[in-house]
Amino acid sequence: MKALHDIKPAAANAPPLDVERIRRDFPILRQRVHGKPLVYLDNAATAQKPQAVIDAIQRYYSKENSNIHRGVHTLSEKATEAYEGARVKVKEFLGASSTRETVFVRGSTEGINLVAQSYGRAFLKEGDEIVISAMEHHSNIVPWQMLCGQVGARLRVVPINHDGEMLIDEYARLLGPRTRFVSVAHVSNALGTVNPVKQIVEMAHAHKAPVLVDGAQAAPHVKVDVQELGCDFYVFSGHKLYGPTGIGVLYGRERLLEAMPPYQGGGDMISLVTFEKTHYNNLPYKFEAGTPHIAGGIGLGAAIDYINGVGIDSVAAHEQELLAYATRSLSAIDRLRIIGTAREKASVLSFVLDGVHAHDIGTILDREGVAIRAGHHCAMPVMQRFGVPATARASFACYNNREEVDTLARAIGKVSEVFK
Ligand code: ALA
Repeated sequence: MKALHDIKPAAANAPPLDVERIRRDFPILRQRVHGKPLVYLDNAATAQKPQAVIDAIQRYYSKENSNIHRGVHTLSEKATEAYEGARVKVKEFLGASSTRETVFVRGSTEGINLVAQSYGRAFLKEGDEIVISAMEHHSNIVPWQMLCGQVGARLRVVPINHDGEMLIDEYARLLGPRTRFVSVAHVSNALGTVNPVKQIVEMAHAHKAPVLVDGAQAAPHVKVDVQELGCDFYVFSGHKLYGPTGIGVLYGRERLLEAMPPYQGGGDMISLVTFEKTHYNNLPYKFEAGTPHIAGGIGLGAAIDYINGVGIDSVAAHEQELLAYATRSLSAIDRLRIIGTAREKASVLSFVLDGVHAHDIGTILDREGVAIRAGHHCAMPVMQRFGVPATARASFACYNNREEVDTLARAIGKVSEVFK
């Protein structure tokens, strides 16, 4: 069976990015590291923040700071309006049908844990199967392992090929009457592979299994439309999308969120409490116990405004072009092997250099002002699959340019010199 990728190479007619103008929006990019201009290529770990996001957070703390949903005073009303306004932006960004489907969480990891513990503990039982893939981040493995331990379910893992592509025939083989849940990365953080999520959803739904899509590495790089994908849950993190850390989103189909018990108890998630019984609040508040990360939500709203202003299709086209350029450039380097050569990729370029540990690559690159990530990328099974302890990983964002890729290539050349 052929994988049908639902993310096309970005629309050819998307207007080109004015990267130099975009770079001016990110104050952190103006600095030097070890005396060299900063080349920030660690965007899969976290993206830098535009001034508009920094300003929104500063404005909240300097002019509106107050708790939300509680106060009758002016500041509380302003803060509530700003926070709930951000939720509307999230809803539109994801193509959700209602703000009842958009739950603010700490990030993708918390979103997955919420679904595993709430949906999973309520609806899965001994002998049921959860299907994930061999390219998942630990945050899309461990919560399901924990759930399996709690309810007696079994984890099934779809293998990947040597290019880092999902074996879709194996997917079809692993799905069956015992499958009660499917969870899959939209884009792999360690390999950059873009998975055929729409096809996976259709296959899982044929077995009546709900699907969670981990969009942590997709939302900043491709257009996401949860209704078009047909998924039941979708998670992403604000900080990879040019927003603050500590805030993210769980999209859930309203029917499923309604049926799920709360994840945590506390303030805001109730409508009535007595010692005999508690009535829970409406969606999405049923899943938002305690004072939330108000500044984070507002900052995420500003980040979504920013990305909408730049244009996600233009970002995708620019990053595709940069990834292709970097792939050509790094492929020409002696002893360098790219890990992750899928036909459909986004933003990520992982590599190893014969005889050099990834941490040494990262350290020498840092001396050249180039920031990349080195290690297992919280995806140890991917490293095991490729027989490497770690990789070096460059990952791109809308503000990166070809000159930075050239600097990266020259810096890798220096690593080769040191270790020849
Ligand atoms: N999950 C993040 C990464 O891939 C932190 O670097």
